Amino acid sequence: MIETLNEFLLSFSSAVSNCSLYSGEHASVSEFITKTIDVLNILFNNSDSVEIMVIEDDIVVNKTLIRNAGIHVINLMKKLKRKGISRVDILKGVEFNEIKDFIVSLLDKEKTVKGYPHIVTGIVDIRLGGQKLAEDFKIGDISKLSGLQADGVREIFTGVSHFKKLETYGLEEIVLKFAAAFKRESNVLKLLCPVKSTSEYTYVHATNVAVLSMFQAESLGVREDLKHDIGIAALLHDVGKVFINVNILEKKEKLNDREWNEIKLHTVYGSKYLAKINGLTRLAPIVAYEHHLRFDGKGYPEIKNNSRKQHICSQIVAISDYFDALRSRRPYRKEQEFEEILFLMKNESEGMFNPFLLDNFIKSMFRVLSG
Ligand SMILES: [Fe+2]
Ligand SMILES: [Fe+2]
Repeated sequence: MIETLNEFLLSFSSAVSNCSLYSGEHASVSEFITKTIDVLNILFNNSDSVEIMVIEDDIVVNKTLIRNAGIHVINLMKKLKRKGISRVDILKGVEFNEIKDFIVSLLDKEKTVKGYPHIVTGIVDIRLGGQKLAEDFKIGDISKLSGLQADGVREIFTGVSHFKKLETYGLEEIVLKFAAAFKRESNVLKLLCPVKSTSEYTYVHATNVAVLSMFQAESLGVREDLKHDIGIAALLHDVGKVFINVNILEKKEKLNDREWNEIKLHTVYGSKYLAKINGLTRLAPIVAYEHHLRFDGKGYPEIKNNSRKQHICSQIVAISDYFDALRSRRPYRKEQEFEEILFLMKNESEGMFNPFLLDNFIKSMFRVLSG
């Protein structure tokens, strides 16, 4: 499959390069467009669309990172970036003239690239919302709080995955609401949201990890502004998953090595993506990159020669992440009781977590459970 994706990218980008060298009418352009359509038709046997994403300096086709793609592909990425396009979806049924017109308008500095029936372009972007004061938020039924927040997070993730600009909920707002909620509700467990369906897992999980991480920060006496940044970073720790094939993410059977390796890439995609966002705390890309690293230097992404130490905020998020993964009803795991999970974390996680932070987390949770 990867060869076909490479072949597609090579013919498509060659059509673009040739069009900029000569013109849309040149025979070589027609040749490469025809070749592009031939390869697309092979890819359309498996899916109804082929997507190209530009994530910083990488190009990803159908969720597969294409390495060392060559000069034409670099040129294509430049042209897309110049127009502010970070995603192109080519849909089944695309015709020769649509591709040609798209390429011509992509190369024309004056023209904006319009939509075509079978070519959809978009921008990958997260917007930070306005800072609404936490006092605005009236908590009626505290148990509904994190459900409400999960909806906000859902919109943020949907915005990313559908590649629309986000104007909806601000992350700032969500985190400020958490901070306000902690002041009113001492039982953090009541702020956690149950998972109702597998497709909801991502949003609910993000929300819960943020709540648990801010709870840890609070129990450690961390400064308000840092606590706030930890909340934002925790909300976004798994954002790279929107770049991973949903069939793999939601697969109920055991994953094979190739699928596992793809899942592991969510750390890299997420951090690259978050690093580009202006105004976002620098902790967010760090935590996205490091949240599956372990205290003993193992985990992923693989760090050569132990040359990178996990940031303390990533260590906090890693604990919350693990706890929430265990407590949630995942396709392959039954829900476990809180205490049981805490014992499990204490006894069977050697080398995974910062022992001081783990101890603090377990003690603080037991305080909540007994109080
Ligand atoms: Fe993750
Ligand atoms: Fe996670």
